[in-house]
Amino acid sequence: MIHRVLIGGMAALALAGPAGATENTLADRLTSAEPEAGEQIFKHCRACHTIEQGGAHGNGPNLWGVVGRPVASAEGFGKYSDALRAIGGDWTPERLDAFLTDPHEDIEGTRMPFVGLDRPRARADLIAYLNRNSPAPLDLTIGAKKDAVLVEDEPPEFGVLFVAGGVEETHAYCTACHSERLVAQQGLDRDGWVELIEWMVDEQGMAEIEEPDLGIVLDYLTANYNIDRPNFPNR
Ligand code: HEC
Ligand code: HEC
Repeated sequence: MIHRVLIGGMAALALAGPAGATENTLADRLTSAEPEAGEQIFKHCRACHTIEQGGAHGNGPNLWGVVGRPVASAEGFGKYSDALRAIGGDWTPERLDAFLTDPHEDIEGTRMPFVGLDRPRARADLIAYLNRNSPAPLDLTIGAKKDAVLVEDEPPEFGVLFVAGGVEETHAYCTACHSERLVAQQGLDRDGWVELIEWMVDEQGMAEIEEPDLGIVLDYLTANYNIDRPNFPNR
Protein backbone atom coordinates (compact mmCIF):
# COMPACT_ATOMS: atom_id res chain seq x y z
CA MET A 1 0.00 0.00 0.00
CA ILE A 2 1.34 3.45 -0.86
CA HIS A 3 1.26 6.23 1.69
CA ARG A 4 2.14 9.82 1.04
CA VAL A 5 4.50 11.06 3.71
CA LEU A 6 5.78 14.54 4.40
CA ILE A 7 9.44 14.84 5.18
CA GLY A 8 10.55 18.27 6.29
CA GLY A 9 7.61 19.77 4.41
CA MET A 10 8.38 17.94 1.14
CA ALA A 11 5.96 15.39 -0.20
CA ALA A 12 7.45 12.03 -1.02
CA LEU A 13 6.16 8.55 -1.67
CA ALA A 14 7.03 5.82 0.73
CA LEU A 15 6.18 2.16 0.74
CA ALA A 16 4.66 1.07 3.99
CA GLY A 17 4.98 -2.68 4.27
CA PRO A 18 4.18 -4.60 7.42
CA ALA A 19 7.29 -3.12 9.05
CA GLY A 20 6.72 0.40 7.68
CA ALA A 21 5.53 3.27 9.83
CA THR A 22 1.83 3.70 9.22
CA GLU A 23 1.08 5.77 12.27
CA ASN A 24 2.87 8.47 14.23
CA THR A 25 2.76 8.92 17.96
CA LEU A 26 0.15 11.36 19.12
CA ALA A 27 2.83 13.88 20.14
CA ASP A 28 4.28 13.78 16.62
CA ARG A 29 0.86 14.18 15.06
CA LEU A 30 -0.03 17.10 17.31
CA THR A 31 3.04 19.15 16.31
CA SER A 32 1.64 19.49 12.81
CA ALA A 33 -2.06 19.31 13.62
CA GLU A 34 -4.31 21.87 11.96
CA PRO A 35 -7.24 23.20 14.00
CA GLU A 36 -8.93 24.43 10.79
CA ALA A 37 -8.98 20.87 9.45
CA GLY A 38 -10.22 19.77 12.86
CA GLU A 39 -13.15 22.16 12.58
CA GLN A 40 -14.27 20.19 9.49
CA ILE A 41 -13.87 16.91 11.36
CA PHE A 42 -16.00 18.32 14.17
CA LYS A 43 -18.98 17.96 11.80
CA HIS A 44 -18.97 14.33 12.97
CA CYS A 45 -19.74 15.61 16.46
CA ARG A 46 -22.16 18.49 15.85
CA ALA A 47 -25.27 16.31 15.82
CA CYS A 48 -24.75 15.85 19.55
CA HIS A 49 -22.27 18.44 20.85
CA THR A 50 -21.90 22.21 20.87
CA ILE A 51 -18.42 23.57 21.45
CA GLU A 52 -19.05 27.29 21.95
CA GLN A 53 -18.61 28.71 25.45
CA GLY A 54 -21.96 28.42 27.23
CA GLY A 55 -23.41 26.34 24.36
CA ALA A 56 -26.41 24.15 25.14
CA HIS A 57 -25.99 20.47 25.94
CA GLY A 58 -27.41 18.18 23.26
CA ASN A 59 -27.42 14.42 23.27
CA GLY A 60 -23.87 14.91 24.53
CA PRO A 61 -22.38 17.57 26.83
CA ASN A 62 -21.08 20.97 25.66
CA LEU A 63 -17.37 20.56 24.85
CA TRP A 64 -16.00 24.05 25.54
CA GLY A 65 -12.65 23.56 27.28
CA VAL A 66 -12.89 19.76 27.26
CA VAL A 67 -9.13 19.27 26.71
CA GLY A 68 -7.72 19.12 30.24
CA ARG A 69 -11.19 19.14 31.83
CA PRO A 70 -12.11 16.50 34.43
CA VAL A 71 -13.99 13.61 32.81
CA ALA A 72 -17.80 13.77 33.10
CA SER A 73 -17.79 17.22 34.66
CA ALA A 74 -19.87 19.43 32.32
CA GLU A 75 -22.15 21.40 34.58
CA GLY A 76 -25.84 20.71 34.08
CA PHE A 77 -25.39 17.64 31.87
CA GLY A 78 -27.41 14.98 33.63
CA LYS A 79 -26.99 12.09 31.20
CA TYR A 80 -23.46 10.81 31.84
CA SER A 81 -23.17 7.04 31.94
CA ASP A 82 -21.97 5.31 35.08
CA ALA A 83 -19.04 4.05 32.99
CA LEU A 84 -17.84 7.58 32.19
CA ARG A 85 -18.45 8.85 35.71
CA ALA A 86 -16.38 6.00 37.11
CA ILE A 87 -13.12 6.57 35.23
CA GLY A 88 -11.96 9.80 36.92
CA GLY A 89 -9.03 12.00 35.94
CA ASP A 90 -8.87 14.58 33.15
CA TRP A 91 -9.36 14.49 29.39
CA THR A 92 -5.72 14.55 28.35
CA PRO A 93 -4.96 14.54 24.60
CA GLU A 94 -3.91 10.88 24.96
CA ARG A 95 -7.20 9.86 26.51
CA LEU A 96 -9.18 11.79 23.91
CA ASP A 97 -7.20 10.14 21.12
CA ALA A 98 -8.03 6.69 22.48
CA PHE A 99 -11.69 7.51 23.19
CA LEU A 100 -12.30 9.06 19.76
CA THR A 101 -10.68 6.13 17.95
CA ASP A 102 -13.36 3.77 19.21
CA PRO A 103 -15.45 5.02 22.13
CA HIS A 104 -16.99 1.66 22.99
CA GLU A 105 -13.76 -0.26 22.89
CA ASP A 106 -12.04 2.41 25.02
CA ILE A 107 -14.76 2.86 27.64
CA GLU A 108 -17.07 -0.11 27.90
CA GLY A 109 -20.54 1.09 28.73
CA THR A 110 -20.20 4.65 27.43
CA ARG A 111 -23.42 6.14 26.21
CA MET A 112 -21.77 7.96 23.31
CA PRO A 113 -23.29 6.29 20.24
CA PHE A 114 -20.46 7.27 17.90
CA VAL A 115 -18.54 4.70 15.84
CA GLY A 116 -15.15 6.36 16.10
CA LEU A 117 -12.62 8.01 13.83
CA ASP A 118 -9.98 5.63 12.53
CA ARG A 119 -7.80 8.27 10.83
CA PRO A 120 -4.94 9.22 13.20
CA ARG A 121 -4.12 12.62 11.71
CA ALA A 122 -7.79 13.57 11.56
CA ARG A 123 -8.01 12.83 15.29
CA ALA A 124 -4.97 15.02 15.98
CA ASP A 125 -6.51 17.85 13.95
CA LEU A 126 -9.74 17.42 15.90
CA ILE A 127 -7.95 17.49 19.26
CA ALA A 128 -6.13 20.67 18.20
CA TYR A 129 -9.50 22.20 17.35
CA LEU A 130 -11.02 21.13 20.68
CA ASN A 131 -7.97 22.55 22.44
CA ARG A 132 -8.37 25.90 20.69
CA ASN A 133 -11.94 26.14 22.02
CA SER A 134 -10.85 26.51 25.59
CA PRO A 135 -10.25 29.21 28.17
CA ALA A 136 -6.76 27.76 28.72
CA PRO A 137 -5.44 25.87 25.68
CA LEU A 138 -2.64 23.39 26.45
CA ASP A 139 0.70 23.47 24.64
CA LEU A 140 0.23 20.40 22.48
CA THR A 141 3.76 20.35 21.05
CA ILE A 142 5.53 19.28 24.22
CA GLY A 143 7.38 16.00 23.84
CA ALA A 144 7.21 15.83 20.07
CA LYS A 145 10.15 14.77 17.96
CA LYS A 146 11.10 17.63 15.67
CA ASP A 147 12.30 15.29 12.93
CA ALA A 148 9.20 13.13 12.85
CA VAL A 149 8.21 11.71 9.48
CA LEU A 150 4.53 12.43 9.26
CA VAL A 151 2.35 9.79 7.71
CA GLU A 152 -0.77 11.02 5.96
CA ASP A 153 -4.13 9.40 6.62
CA GLU A 154 -5.78 7.12 4.15
CA PRO A 155 -8.41 9.14 2.30
CA PRO A 156 -11.75 9.14 4.13
CA GLU A 157 -14.17 6.43 3.14
CA PHE A 158 -17.88 6.93 2.74
CA GLY A 159 -19.14 3.36 2.82
CA VAL A 160 -22.00 2.77 0.41
CA LEU A 161 -22.64 6.50 -0.13
CA PHE A 162 -22.22 7.63 -3.74
CA VAL A 163 -19.09 9.77 -4.09
CA ALA A 164 -20.08 13.23 -5.36
CA GLY A 165 -19.98 16.80 -4.07
CA GLY A 166 -21.37 16.95 -0.54
CA VAL A 167 -20.62 13.32 0.34
CA GLU A 168 -18.10 14.33 3.00
CA GLU A 169 -20.57 16.59 4.85
CA THR A 170 -23.43 14.12 4.47
CA HIS A 171 -21.31 11.26 5.73
CA ALA A 172 -20.11 13.27 8.72
CA TYR A 173 -23.54 14.47 9.83
CA CYS A 174 -25.54 11.41 8.97
CA THR A 175 -23.37 8.62 10.39
CA ALA A 176 -23.27 10.14 13.87
CA CYS A 177 -26.03 7.80 15.10
CA HIS A 178 -26.45 5.09 12.49
CA SER A 179 -24.87 3.52 9.43
CA GLU A 180 -24.83 5.38 6.12
CA ARG A 181 -26.65 2.36 4.69
CA LEU A 182 -29.89 3.56 6.29
CA VAL A 183 -29.50 6.80 4.33
CA ALA A 184 -28.59 5.11 1.04
CA GLN A 185 -31.60 2.80 1.22
CA GLN A 186 -33.97 5.77 1.37
CA GLY A 187 -35.29 7.57 -1.71
CA LEU A 188 -37.00 10.93 -1.22
CA ASP A 189 -37.52 14.20 -3.02
CA ARG A 190 -36.16 17.39 -1.47
CA ASP A 191 -39.26 18.06 0.65
CA GLY A 192 -39.10 14.49 1.87
CA TRP A 193 -35.49 14.88 2.97
CA VAL A 194 -36.28 18.20 4.65
CA GLU A 195 -39.08 16.47 6.58
CA LEU A 196 -36.90 13.50 7.49
CA ILE A 197 -34.15 15.74 8.83
CA GLU A 198 -36.73 17.71 10.83
CA TRP A 199 -37.90 14.41 12.32
CA MET A 200 -34.29 13.58 13.24
CA VAL A 201 -34.07 16.93 15.03
CA ASP A 202 -37.48 16.85 16.74
CA GLU A 203 -37.60 13.19 17.73
CA GLN A 204 -34.01 11.89 17.76
CA GLY A 205 -32.21 14.75 19.45
CA MET A 206 -30.07 15.68 16.46
CA ALA A 207 -28.86 19.26 16.63
CA GLU A 208 -30.01 21.36 13.67
CA ILE A 209 -27.52 21.41 10.81
CA GLU A 210 -26.60 25.02 10.11
CA GLU A 211 -26.19 26.68 6.73
CA PRO A 212 -24.31 26.38 4.48
CA ASP A 213 -23.95 22.72 5.43
CA LEU A 214 -27.70 22.05 5.51
CA GLY A 215 -28.00 23.15 1.88
CA ILE A 216 -24.97 21.05 0.92
CA VAL A 217 -26.43 17.94 2.57
CA LEU A 218 -29.89 18.49 1.05
CA ASP A 219 -28.45 19.06 -2.42
CA TYR A 220 -26.41 15.89 -2.13
CA LEU A 221 -29.33 13.78 -0.87
CA THR A 222 -31.76 15.16 -3.44
CA ALA A 223 -29.35 14.60 -6.33
CA ASN A 224 -28.21 11.13 -5.35
CA TYR A 225 -31.02 9.62 -3.27
CA ASN A 226 -34.19 10.81 -4.96
CA ILE A 227 -37.40 8.81 -5.41
CA ASP A 228 -36.02 6.99 -8.45
CA ARG A 229 -33.30 5.61 -6.12
CA PRO A 230 -30.43 5.97 -8.62
CA ASN A 231 -27.84 4.81 -6.09
CA PHE A 232 -29.68 2.18 -4.09
CA PRO A 233 -26.93 0.03 -2.53
CA ASN A 234 -26.81 -3.42 -4.07
CA ARG A 235 -24.10 -4.71 -1.80
C1 HEC B 1 -24.73 10.63 18.49
C2 HEC B 1 -24.30 11.54 19.52
C3 HEC B 1 -22.83 11.81 19.70
C4 HEC B 1 -21.89 12.03 18.74
C5 HEC B 1 -22.07 12.02 17.23
C6 HEC B 1 -20.67 12.33 19.44
N1 HEC B 1 -20.87 12.29 20.78
FE1 HEC B 1 -19.49 12.68 22.22
N2 HEC B 1 -20.84 12.20 23.66
C7 HEC B 1 -22.14 11.83 23.43
C8 HEC B 1 -22.73 11.39 24.69
C9 HEC B 1 -24.15 10.90 24.88
C10 HEC B 1 -21.73 11.53 25.68
C11 HEC B 1 -21.81 11.11 27.13
C12 HEC B 1 -21.21 9.70 27.16
C13 HEC B 1 -21.32 8.96 28.47
O1 HEC B 1 -21.78 9.54 29.45
O2 HEC B 1 -20.92 7.77 28.49
C14 HEC B 1 -20.56 12.05 25.00
C15 HEC B 1 -19.36 12.34 25.64
C16 HEC B 1 -18.26 12.89 25.02
C17 HEC B 1 -17.05 13.30 25.69
C18 HEC B 1 -16.81 13.28 27.20
C19 HEC B 1 -17.20 14.65 27.72
C20 HEC B 1 -17.11 14.82 29.22
O3 HEC B 1 -17.63 15.83 29.71
O4 HEC B 1 -16.53 13.96 29.90
C21 HEC B 1 -16.21 13.79 24.74
C22 HEC B 1 -14.81 14.33 24.96
C23 HEC B 1 -16.88 13.66 23.47
N3 HEC B 1 -18.13 13.12 23.67
C24 HEC B 1 -16.35 14.06 22.26
C25 HEC B 1 -16.96 13.83 21.03
C26 HEC B 1 -16.35 14.17 19.76
C27 HEC B 1 -15.04 14.90 19.61
C28 HEC B 1 -17.21 13.73 18.79
C29 HEC B 1 -17.02 13.77 17.30
C30 HEC B 1 -15.88 13.06 16.78
C31 HEC B 1 -18.36 13.15 19.46
N4 HEC B 1 -18.17 13.23 20.79
C32 HEC B 1 -19.48 12.62 18.80
C33 HEC B 1 -22.79 11.85 22.23
C34 HEC B 1 -22.18 11.98 20.99
C1 HEC C 1 -28.87 12.14 16.64
C2 HEC C 1 -28.90 10.88 15.96
C3 HEC C 1 -29.17 10.87 14.47
C4 HEC C 1 -28.54 11.58 13.49
C5 HEC C 1 -27.41 12.57 13.65
C6 HEC C 1 -29.14 11.19 12.25
N1 HEC C 1 -30.09 10.24 12.47
FE1 HEC C 1 -31.17 9.28 11.05
N2 HEC C 1 -32.11 8.20 12.50
C7 HEC C 1 -31.87 8.27 13.85
C8 HEC C 1 -32.67 7.28 14.54
C9 HEC C 1 -32.67 7.05 16.04
C10 HEC C 1 -33.42 6.62 13.55
C11 HEC C 1 -34.46 5.53 13.74
C12 HEC C 1 -33.90 4.29 14.31
C13 HEC C 1 -33.31 3.42 13.32
O1 HEC C 1 -34.02 3.00 12.40
O2 HEC C 1 -32.10 3.08 13.47
C14 HEC C 1 -33.03 7.20 12.27
C15 HEC C 1 -33.53 6.78 11.05
C16 HEC C 1 -33.13 7.29 9.81
C17 HEC C 1 -33.64 6.83 8.53
C18 HEC C 1 -34.63 5.72 8.32
C19 HEC C 1 -35.99 6.29 8.41
C20 HEC C 1 -37.06 5.25 8.16
O3 HEC C 1 -38.15 5.67 7.82
O4 HEC C 1 -36.77 4.06 8.31
C21 HEC C 1 -33.04 7.60 7.57
C22 HEC C 1 -33.27 7.52 6.08
C23 HEC C 1 -32.17 8.53 8.25
N3 HEC C 1 -32.24 8.30 9.61
C24 HEC C 1 -31.42 9.48 7.62
C25 HEC C 1 -30.57 10.36 8.26
C26 HEC C 1 -29.86 11.41 7.58
C27 HEC C 1 -29.98 11.72 6.11
C28 HEC C 1 -29.12 12.04 8.51
C29 HEC C 1 -28.19 13.23 8.32
C30 HEC C 1 -28.83 14.44 7.85
C31 HEC C 1 -29.36 11.38 9.81
N4 HEC C 1 -30.26 10.38 9.60
C32 HEC C 1 -28.79 11.72 11.01
C33 HEC C 1 -30.98 9.12 14.47
C34 HEC C 1 -30.14 10.02 13.83
